[in-house]
Amino acid sequence: MAWTVQPSATMQIPRRSEPYVTAEMQARWTEIILPRYETRLGSLMPILHDVQHAYGWIPAQAMEEIAAFLEINASQVFDCTSFYEEYHTHPVGEHVIAICQSIACEACGHQAIIDHVRGRLDIEPHETTSDGKFTLMALECLGACDTAPCALVNDDRHDNLTIDAIDRIIDGLSS
Ligand code: FES
Repeated sequence: MAWTVQPSATMQIPRRSEPYVTAEMQARWTEIILPRYETRLGSLMPILHDVQHAYGWIPAQAMEEIAAFLEINASQVFDCTSFYEEYHTHPVGEHVIAICQSIACEACGHQAIIDHVRGRLDIEPHETTSDGKFTLMALECLGACDTAPCALVNDDRHDNLTIDAIDRIIDGLSS
């Protein structure tokens, strides 16, 4: 994985008039998520997941709104979303195929699977097909090293992955 430097201090944040963090979300977070954690900052990751489930990704404006809700700095939210690749900071395709590239999966042939998907979908990791159907990602360890190689396809983990298996998954999502 390559670290990329982003000019976050000077970045322009696209804005819309309607907030991403709705009153309904705030009420639900206050009732269900905040009480689970000792600090408001502790709620950040589940709240980010909630926003991503709602919109498919986490716009920068939403990160600022989350920071305001949690009474933390926006930079803390940006730090979290930019560290974990599972958080999408840009729009992604209808289906996200995220193949583990960490050591156990690497030893068990993840590269052949990534290369196959790259060729089949004609995209590189972190790109989306022109029809908006698929995004390919390469992630770090998914915590299933004993069943490597594996991938996260949308919200489902697929273990002991083979090229035939990933083809069947893509076929199923294509129809
Ligand atoms: S290295 Fe792939 S799941 Fe751990």
